Amino acid sequence: GLQRRVEALLARMTLEEKVGQLAQYSVGTPTGPGTGRSDYETLVRTGAVGSMFNVVGAQETNRYQRIAVEQSRLKIPLLFGFDVIHGYRTTMPIPLGMAASFDPALVEQAMHLAATEAAAEGIRWVFSPMVDIARDPRWGRVAEGSGEDPFLGAAMARAYVRGYQGPSLSESTSVAASVKHFAAYGGAEAGRDYNTVDMSEVSLRQTYLPPYQAAIEAGSATLMSAFNTLNGVPATANAHLLTDILRGEWGFNGFVVSDWTAVAELKNHGIALDGPSAALKALGAGVDMDMESHLYAPELPRLVREGKLSQAVVDEAVRRVLRVKFALGLFEHPYVDEKVAAYVATPEKRELARRLAEESIVLLENKGGVLPLSPGRKVALVGPLADAPVDMLGTWNGKGDPRDVVTLRAALEHRLRGTPGALRHARGTDVLSADSSGFAEAVAAARASDVVIAALGEDTNMSGEAASRTRIDLPGNQLQLLEALAATGKPVVLIVFSGRPLALTEPQRQVAALVQAWQPGIEAGPALANLLWGDVDFSARLPITFPRSLGQVPLYYNHLNTGRPAGQTDLTRPASNGVEKYVSRYLDERNTPLYPFGHGLSYTSFDFSPPQPSAPSLQARAVREQRGEVLRVKTQVRNAGARPGTVVAQLYLRILGTSTAQPVRQLVGFQRVTLAPGESRELEFPLGFQELSFFDARATRVVEPGTRYELWVGDSSEATRHASFTME
Ligand code: IFM
Repeated sequence: GLQRRVEALLARMTLEEKVGQLAQYSVGTPTGPGTGRSDYETLVRTGAVGSMFNVVGAQETNRYQRIAVEQSRLKIPLLFGFDVIHGYRTTMPIPLGMAASFDPALVEQAMHLAATEAAAEGIRWVFSPMVDIARDPRWGRVAEGSGEDPFLGAAMARAYVRGYQGPSLSESTSVAASVKHFAAYGGAEAGRDYNTVDMSEVSLRQTYLPPYQAAIEAGSATLMSAFNTLNGVPATANAHLLTDILRGEWGFNGFVVSDWTAVAELKNHGIALDGPSAALKALGAGVDMDMESHLYAPELPRLVREGKLSQAVVDEAVRRVLRVKFALGLFEHPYVDEKVAAYVATPEKRELARRLAEESIVLLENKGGVLPLSPGRKVALVGPLADAPVDMLGTWNGKGDPRDVVTLRAALEHRLRGTPGALRHARGTDVLSADSSGFAEAVAAARASDVVIAALGEDTNMSGEAASRTRIDLPGNQLQLLEALAATGKPVVLIVFSGRPLALTEPQRQVAALVQAWQPGIEAGPALANLLWGDVDFSARLPITFPRSLGQVPLYYNHLNTGRPAGQTDLTRPASNGVEKYVSRYLDERNTPLYPFGHGLSYTSFDFSPPQPSAPSLQARAVREQRGEVLRVKTQVRNAGARPGTVVAQLYLRILGTSTAQPVRQLVGFQRVTLAPGESRELEFPLGFQELSFFDARATRVVEPGTRYELWVGDSSEATRHASFTME
């Protein structure tokens, strides 16, 4: 049915109307370098535009839609897109925070809410999920992804797509996803946004591609190509990525949109001499829709007429776009109901945002059990982020509204109301300031209290697109403020708000407890209060490594070994003798992170029994042929403490004896488990070809006979419970 409708419509279209469907314009607040024009209504009326984005509000989307549907010759509805990244109006934690939940089911629910809110205003297409693996905290866009791990990244990618697209795109509450940025955008050299990416085909496939592939397999209707070059070929003109892998290997049949002005940027990359050749290279490689380069619509018809571009290539791109429009039901239901009530942050929405925030905030340190705070303790709340609504929303906050935010200060005022003197608040300093005139007031508040809560870190604009930094420590004079607070002798609970891992070595020394809160969204304050007083247990785990210092970057847990690993060498001593010198190490810093991937404390403790694989050995040939599960790993996890709690059980694997060197560990399974004190549960992790295979030198997935598999289970990437099996 759908295919017939597409063909029937295509047959009626002029060449100009066809390329119109491939043109996309930002109409509203720009999210890239200005290229604006003012004749949007004319463009729509003449069928010269297929999609608009950055148009918000039901009235505005309806207004343009009416022109398309009632005044253009073929009445093809517009598709409205928008950067709905971690919520539309109900702002959830930033994606890096959501990933820390290790709870794809909850993320799916939250993204379904985002879809519902966006769709109600006519936005049926979101530029998300951003699934770029990121290992470099200098890169501001680490905030937007799910961190450094391909397995977790793939699980989150599926959750986003399912949440957005629902059971069917045709539901009025579903939106089309756009998995981005294809590919390996997160591999930017030196963490500088838009920078060169150069990596082996093996690294690409092993580390970077799995989340994109997972999103495609989950049905992502569209995909956005990346800004960067990959091994010398800009992603926007990369047929290896967009045609061979995406369509050939993965069978994608949705459409590809470029990133903002990326088609025109092929000139800056030096692979296109002019606009027409840029358009030709991008379309030829597999970019169907041109975001804001203003090149496809004017240039493609001429290229066809001059015989430089086959009409069939244009037709195919148009088909892909029309298919998505039909699948969304836009031809039947082009408009939205403007009379639907104004946004109400219902208790259900707020509760979802709060649960997700609670699950995303990581307890990194709790010396002497200073947390949970006991009732009756007098609190000094200090720092520039204690009462900063905008900075709780994070990058790309859509239609998020700071007035929806409950800050930490507001939440504490509520919790400690009725007890005079229970809460003292002082700002102390600003996020980026050298002025220490506010320290005295903060120190006085600390002296008059039993415990200090310091809310420090980055503001919202310090991460996200085009927000790379060469420093990843606490900005401005916040460390000095922290030192002044600690010098009072009062225990300090440091809450770090940031869109990236910061190097927290110095702060960690000063404080009794350390909490990584990311940008937690509208329920920042209530979620933190519930966690700090122990109404709810901390259950989040780091989705990205926290380095000791910037010089270690990029630092990630799933690295290869070297021929001269530092091993047990005492890295606190200078490299004076042969043993300590000739190993892979720094002279002035340890190799290990401050906090490893998967780390996060709870108010209770858990122990694990050694993992038990269901067979001591597997046959390589059988594994190659068998679909689905081939091995099952069991373990017992027990809540060994006195409080109920939630653990993220994690299974890691290493393969030895292989033709290509493999990472020292890779995550191959995780489960969130809530246990009462003393309770234990048997967990099972299924492993299949995907988890057991690796890439050989020709970048093909293989299992090889004569290899050995090491397994570890526990609650971080430093898990110690161990077993092994072999592949015969
Ligand atoms: O979706 C974004 C993309 O992630 C970066 N450049 C701009 C696009 C549209 O706003």
